[in-house]
Amino acid sequence: MLFGLIDNNAKIKEQIKMGYQEGAIKKDWTGNQRSIYATLGASNHSNKDRQQHDYYATEPKAIELLLSEEQFSPIIWECACGEGHLSKALEQHGFKVISTDLIYRGFGDPKPLNFLKDTLKDFEGDIITNPPYKYSLEFVQRALENVQKGKKVAMFLKLQFLEGKKRKNFFLHNPPKIVYVSSSRLICAMNGEFEKIKSSAAAYAWFVWEKGFIGDSIIKWIN
Ligand SMILES: C[S@@+](CC[C@H](N)C(=O)[O-])C[C@H]1O[C@@H](n2cnc3c(N)ncnc32)[C@H](O)[C@@H]1O
Repeated sequence: MLFGLIDNNAKIKEQIKMGYQEGAIKKDWTGNQRSIYATLGASNHSNKDRQQHDYYATEPKAIELLLSEEQFSPIIWECACGEGHLSKALEQHGFKVISTDLIYRGFGDPKPLNFLKDTLKDFEGDIITNPPYKYSLEFVQRALENVQKGKKVAMFLKLQFLEGKKRKNFFLHNPPKIVYVSSSRLICAMNGEFEKIKSSAAAYAWFVWEKGFIGDSIIKWIN
């Protein structure tokens, strides 16, 4: 691993609680109403774990769209990498990608890294990820703490991230430099099972912060 981990005492039992209820009929965060238990066929523990930690893989096309508009540092930290759908697309573009996750899913650093607690020593690059939905704001805040002035944080988030009182207050002090709204739907697949997804019920955007930026945010449309 390129950088040493500090305070990496993340253990599965310490992981964040996601409020999962077996068999509950509820909307998942992509907006599809479903019985999580039935729809997932989540009859085994590992499937429940994956759901519990908001594992939805992002269609790699999202990276192509982002890179067609934005330039990034040569070193990227994908701090919630899942199975590496974004990391692999970034690597194909020549970036050196540090891939970490709270749960090792067979890709990236096998050592769990809780992004809300742990960090990398002397990290000098940009951060790009699709964070766990429930902790989107915390991830953005933490990412901004973890990059140096002038470096970028790009987060793939639901458009709804724009609203909300708590987030408004955050945006007033930390405006994204630019928001790229995907005018066609992109897909995030639970457990990376893209073959099970016919269409997406959620609208997404890339939110890009540049640490230290003060000013009005720009909005653009991609896709
Ligand atoms: C929405 S998925 C996105 C996966 C990947 N970034 C992608 O776009 O394909 C969110 C990921 O965040 C991870 N995660 C949840 N809580 C985390 C935490 N506290 N620290 C690091 N990763 C976390 C989950 O394990 C899951 O893999």
